[in-house]
Amino acid sequence: MTYQDELAKVLTSVYPPRVLDGVYTDDEYRRLLGVVQQRGPWPTIQAHHFESVDELIATTTGVVPKDHGLTLDAIATAHFRGFYGQNSVCYYPEIEDIFYSSRLLDEVKSYWHAEYAKPTMMLFNVCGPHQSGLNPHLDAVTFRGVRYENTPVWLLNIMAKSGLFTDYIVNMAQVITWWYRGEAGTFTYWPDGPLRPPKTLPTPMWNRGIVVQNELMFHRGDPVGRPEERPIEGVRHRSLFEYRPDTDDWVITTDGEVIRRYAPVQIRLLVHWSAEVYRDLDDVKRVMDHTDDLTHDRVFETLIADLRAKGTPVEEPSDPMHDEAFIHTLTTTYTIAPTTDWLTHETDDRSQAERAS
Ligand SMILES: [Fe+2]
Repeated sequence: MTYQDELAKVLTSVYPPRVLDGVYTDDEYRRLLGVVQQRGPWPTIQAHHFESVDELIATTTGVVPKDHGLTLDAIATAHFRGFYGQNSVCYYPEIEDIFYSSRLLDEVKSYWHAEYAKPTMMLFNVCGPHQSGLNPHLDAVTFRGVRYENTPVWLLNIMAKSGLFTDYIVNMAQVITWWYRGEAGTFTYWPDGPLRPPKTLPTPMWNRGIVVQNELMFHRGDPVGRPEERPIEGVRHRSLFEYRPDTDDWVITTDGEVIRRYAPVQIRLLVHWSAEVYRDLDDVKRVMDHTDDLTHDRVFETLIADLRAKGTPVEEPSDPMHDEAFIHTLTTTYTIAPTTDWLTHETDDRSQAERAS
C-alpha cells in the first residue's frame, strides 16, 4: 500500500456519516436563533481565530514565507461565527438544556457504539449569500495529552495525517445542522477518504443535520446564494454581522457602516455541536486521569523515527516546534489533499453546486 493510500485510510470516517432530519424542536430553534439575533454583533469566522496572516498561514503550514504580501482584509469572507459554549461550558443559560441535550448525546453515542459522551463545544456560523473558499479542510484533532490548548494546529494536523498516533486520538463526533432555503450553500464532504469522490448534502436544508467526525474527514461549506448575489463591497476582517429588529433584516457593517443587508429568508444558519465520546468507563478514565498521555517529546521522537524509516534525511532539531527546515520536512512528507475534480464529472447535486459556484 502506498503512503497516500495508507493516509487516505486514516482520513476516512470510522463510521459513515448519518443524515438526520428534524434535529431540533421548533422551540429549540427559536432559542438558538434568539441568541444569534439578540447577542450580536458577531465577528467573521476568520477574526475569531487569526490576528495576522502569518498566524493563519502558520496554522496550516507551520512556516510563514517572507514577503507573502497577503493581508487579512484581502482574504476576508462574509461568514460570521459565535460560540454557544466551549470547554464543556454553555455561555447562554437560555440554551443550556440544548447544549447538554440527552438527545444529541444519544446520537453521537449510537454513532460511535460508545457508552459515554461529553459535550465540548457548540457554535454557529451565520451568513447570507457570499463567495467562500473552495478548499476542503479537517477540524483540529485532539490527542490524549496533546491538544489544541497546548499544541499548534499545524502539528495536530501533521499528527493526524501521519497516522502514527491513531491510538491516542480522543474520539469525537459532531452534529451539524442547517437552516437554509436559498440557492447553493451545500455541504461537501469526503466520507470515503480524500482520494474517493465526495458527497454533497443538497439544499434546501431546513433543520437537517449530519453526524460526522469532522477532524478525520475532509469537508467544506460551499459558496452561498446565486452567483450574482455573492459579491460584497467592503467586507473586511473586522466586519460584523447583526440582526436589526426594527427593520427585521440582517446587516454586515464595517466600522459601523452598513455595507450589505439581507432579508431573513436569505440567511443560512449552521449550528455545530461537538462532543468527546468514550467507548467505556476505561476509556473515560484513560482520558480524564491522564494515565496514557502523549508528550511533545514522544511525538517528535516518533515522527523523526518514521521519517528516517522512510529514508528521509532529517537532523535532530533542537527546537522542533519552531525549526523551519524540520517543519518543512514534516509538512511535505505528511501531505494529502482531497481530489475536487470529481465534482465536474458528477451529474447530481454535486455538479449543480459546482456549476453554481
Ligand atoms: Fe470544519
